[in-house]
Amino acid sequence: MSRNRFYLTTPIYYVNGSPHLGHAYTSTAADVLARFKRLDAFDVLFLTGTDEHGQKVEAAARDAETDPQNFVDQVAADFADMARRMNISYDDFVRTTQPRHKEAAQALWRKLDEAGMIYLGAYEGYYAVRDEAFYDESELTKRPDGTLVATASGAPVQKVSEPSYFFKLSAFQDRLLEFYEAHPDFIAPTAKRNEILSFVRGGLNDLSISRTKFTWGIPVPGDEQHVMYVWLDALVNYLTATGYPDAAAPRAAYWPADLHLVGKEIIRFHAVYWPAFLMAAGLPLPKRVFSHGWWTVEGEKMSKSTGNFIDVRPLVSTFGLDQVRFFLLREVPFGNDGDFSRRALIARVNAELANGLGNLAQRTLSFIAKNAGGVVPARGALREADHALLDGAASLPEKVRAAINRLAFHEALEEVWKVIRAADAYIDHQAPWTLKKTDPERMLTVLYVLASVLRTVAVLLQPFMPDSMSKLLDQLGVAPEARQIAALEAPLVENAPLPAPVGLFPRIIEAA
Ligand code: ME8
Ligand code: MG
Repeated sequence: MSRNRFYLTTPIYYVNGSPHLGHAYTSTAADVLARFKRLDAFDVLFLTGTDEHGQKVEAAARDAETDPQNFVDQVAADFADMARRMNISYDDFVRTTQPRHKEAAQALWRKLDEAGMIYLGAYEGYYAVRDEAFYDESELTKRPDGTLVATASGAPVQKVSEPSYFFKLSAFQDRLLEFYEAHPDFIAPTAKRNEILSFVRGGLNDLSISRTKFTWGIPVPGDEQHVMYVWLDALVNYLTATGYPDAAAPRAAYWPADLHLVGKEIIRFHAVYWPAFLMAAGLPLPKRVFSHGWWTVEGEKMSKSTGNFIDVRPLVSTFGLDQVRFFLLREVPFGNDGDFSRRALIARVNAELANGLGNLAQRTLSFIAKNAGGVVPARGALREADHALLDGAASLPEKVRAAINRLAFHEALEEVWKVIRAADAYIDHQAPWTLKKTDPERMLTVLYVLASVLRTVAVLLQPFMPDSMSKLLDQLGVAPEARQIAALEAPLVENAPLPAPVGLFPRIIEAA
């Protein structure tokens, strides 16, 4: 029997500019989930990639004075580099300029066409290149200087008039509403679900799905005057990775995806257009679309014009990879907006990694090295305080699993930190440094309990901080094959020899 599959995706990022903190955030969150599922014995397919067609990318290539293919090759490589530097464990990286993707996108187009869902017409209306989105007049606002912008995003729009193929989106209003009704968890968080419900209840217009004003896109099958609308092209990437349209492809069984993780500004594409395309093509729908919030930087919106786009790579060099990963998921309840500041990052890292977990590990492991012969101590009879701490740790895997399944990463971390704080109180209270003289056997039991709790903490934090937790598990003598969540059911192996302890999270001293 095959293991439970879990297929999750990030958005594929536009290659009109360099990767920044926002992209790193979505990818890191998805990575934590992917790693957690693997540790929890799922057969995971984790997809990320780049969105390389469309007017915005074509314009960026023109500004860079290179041809589009050369331009997208460079920027896509930069996104892959960012993913590598953030330790994103993706299984596949789809680029929409790949032949496999072109084939998938054209195959889906043909399916929609065969189903009678496409017709030729003319689009008269507004388009925002920055959002690569068509807007209805009711969705626009006039700025004091007279420019028309999309109300939701602030992106300037232009009036467009061109021949265009349309998708009969209007025919899907009832089916979509029935689907949302039958699958209350399809759109999360709830506020976004409500927003989508009211948008769809308000009625759907047919959707323009081809452009003729430029050429940087996938040709429409049978009419090469048109390129496919970049959002139809892009959404198909989630099928491309499963080998679509080959139903016998090795990865075909991963569809439907378990989760599309996206930022809040692109929920409509994923929760309205995408399911309608899939319904029209007779394909199963993804199980869930989760939209998270937006980061600002030092109180300001990240924008190219103000130049305050933050690249995570220099942060990783300065503060450490796992420190940055931890901060991103710890600082802000997942789903909410958040603000990035160096001060907040330093405060978090020092309080919870350097002082909290790092200090607990260091105290325990250096004490074991000096006073317990450098092996996992053998335990004696357990007392009430020992049971209390061990029980707290034993209930942790289920609590963390439940929180992570809800994408409540901050809650998962809070559960772990409750146990870390309890272990801190325990070590102070049990005072092994006193027991050393008064009751050496009891001292060994106390150290065993601490090492055992540290193992649980380290195993469960692996998805968040893979490198540091791998080091901590090495220091606890935990074999690589015993680092799965299921392995926590077996007790920590006594008398296993331990390497010399090394610090995990140095305190960050702010430069003057
Ligand atoms: O929308 N805070 O690509 P994109 C948090 N190509 N997350 C942010 C962020 C911020 N300030 N800025 C960006 C596209 N993100 C399309 C997607 S999918 C079929 C096509 C993250 O380069 C967030 O996940 O504009 C957001 O949805 C995504 O990057 C948008 O990246
Ligand atoms: Mg965007």
